[in-house]
Order: sequence, then C-alpha cells, then structure tokens
Amino acid sequence: MADKAKVAVFISGRGSNMAALLYASFHADSPYELCLVASNDTDAEGLKLAEAEGIATYALSHKGMARSDHDAAMETAAREAGAEYIVLAGYMRILTEGFVSSWEGRMLNIHPSLLPKYPGLDTHARAIEAGDSHGGASVHLVTAELDAGEVLGALPVAIRPGETADSLAERVRFAEHQLYPKILADYVSRDGDADFLLGKVRNLALALPETHERESHGSPGWRVGSEKSGKYFAHFNDQHHGSEHVAVLVKTSSMDELLGLVETQPEVYFKPAYYGASGWIGLILNRPGLDWDNVAEWLERSWRSVAPKRLTQLASAAEEF
Ligand code: GAR
Repeated sequence: MADKAKVAVFISGRGSNMAALLYASFHADSPYELCLVASNDTDAEGLKLAEAEGIATYALSHKGMARSDHDAAMETAAREAGAEYIVLAGYMRILTEGFVSSWEGRMLNIHPSLLPKYPGLDTHARAIEAGDSHGGASVHLVTAELDAGEVLGALPVAIRPGETADSLAERVRFAEHQLYPKILADYVSRDGDADFLLGKVRNLALALPETHERESHGSPGWRVGSEKSGKYFAHFNDQHHGSEHVAVLVKTSSMDELLGLVETQPEVYFKPAYYGASGWIGLILNRPGLDWDNVAEWLERSWRSVAPKRLTQLASAAEEF
C-alpha cells in the first residue's frame, strides 16, 4: 500500500470522534494515520487517550491570545507533525479565513446535524423543536462560511417520541463514530484515484475555449481547435503506461525549462517517456496537497502554446477587462 495520508486531529473536549478515527486507523488497510492530536484545551480528555496510544499531542490554550496567533500556532504544530490533512472533531473554535484558505480541500469537520439544516449550535434541540423525523451527523469540507462547505457524507438518526437534546446527542455520536472514519478514508484515497483525478483534469481542460477530448495511444487527451485540425495541449498519463505516477502531460517552453523543473521539484514534475523528448512535462497528480489552481494554470499555458491566434488574442483581450 502507498504511504498513508497523515492526519492531524483538532479537538476541544472528550474526543470520542478522534478515538473512533484513531482506532479505525489501526486497521492494516486504513489509508490514513494520525500524526498529531491537538487541542485548545490543555485538559481535553482526548489528549490523554491519544498519548496512551502513542500519538503525538499538542495543547495550547486560546485564552488571552489573538485568534490569528492561536490558529497560527496550531497550524505550525500540524505542519511540523507532517500533517497533510486537518480533521476537526469537536473543535469548538471559529477559524480565521487565512487558516481556512491555506487548508482548502484538506480540512474536514463533523457537524451534529443533517446539513444544510442547522449549522451552528444547539442542533439537536432545533431538530426536535422543528418536529423533524431525523437528526444526524454530516462530514463536510471546511470553508470560510460556518458549516457550509461541501458535504462529503451524512448519516440520519431517528428522533423518538419524548426525545431530548441529550438523548439524541448520545445516539448521534454513535452514528458519527461510524461516519467519520469511513468518509475520511474515502476522501484521502481519492488523492490517488486515477478516475477521480481524470474527472478533475477533464473538467479543467474542457473549460478552456474550443477544446475537445480525443484518445491518443490509449489515453485520454485534450485538443484545441476543430475536430479535424485541432492540436493536443494535454495528455492524461495513468499508471498503466509504465509510470508510477498519475499525471497530466503539458507543454513546457523549452527543454531547459523542463529539465530545470524536474531537477528542482522531482516530487511535482517528471520527464515522461516518449513525450518528454518533444518538451512535454509530467505534472504529478497523485500526491497530497496537490494545488488544482496550479494544474489549471499549466493547462491554460499549454492550451495557449498551441491554440490558434484568434483564440489566444480573444482570451488576452478578455483578461484586460
Ligand atoms: C460531536 O458531536 C461533534 O459533531 C460536535 O461536537 C461533538 C464532539 O464530541 N461538533 C460540533 O458541534 C461542531 N460544531 P467528541 O469530542 O466526543 O468527538
């Protein structure tokens, strides 16, 4: 199995979700492992459990600290522990925008309601009050807006007659413990999943003007121009073609640029077989922390290098507005 994804879990209290994530990670086939459990409460119960299981911990009270300073310290602890993902599990802090944006797509949260219903606090009481048939829990990506990022998965929990917020909270927690490890495992696995990566590249490539997809040597490729005379600006490269990487091949401007990039950033770029000789570089996609904006920039640059002038002029004119 490939290296396991490294996950830092942030907690504020009992940490039962962290414990569920931790014990699920002990399965031999877990695609993730915990590299840190961190808390804003130095007495958080979950810290002791993590320590007992040999997981590194970090605790820093937020009291008397500026929010941004506290976030920065927590983030540094996560980075120093090698975290590729941050997973919030009952971490009762609002995060600064800068922190959220630097972990975009790599920070998850669990919330005790069926989102988009009941973001914020008192979720169980609100569901009971509204006469809902079910409460539940959702795992979502963290974005600047509270509890509003893409929902990755949810489990409903029936609301019984005479239910109280506490009794419901207790059962929702059982559901959470099933939900979170499964969703996290699926989420970190998609970083290496060729079909998922192909779908993302395809969307970006076909969003560029006058493009279409055409197979070349058994792999998907994208061309600009007409079906008849179009030119390739990107090729998909999966592991079946003698390379360990899932990658997209894009055009560099010279062999010097290609070799320079491969030499200085071998974890990001490689010189592909056959294509490398004519200036195509491999941009590796199956790596944690991949920046999709950077992939989009490369695709556009490669598109520009072969697109007919009338299209690149149009694109440049549009940019000036
Ligand atoms: C969980 O129920 C989680 O959904 C909730 O806090 C609890 C933490 O329990 N999170 C939120 O309310 C976030 N807004 P735990 O410490 O035992 O995992």
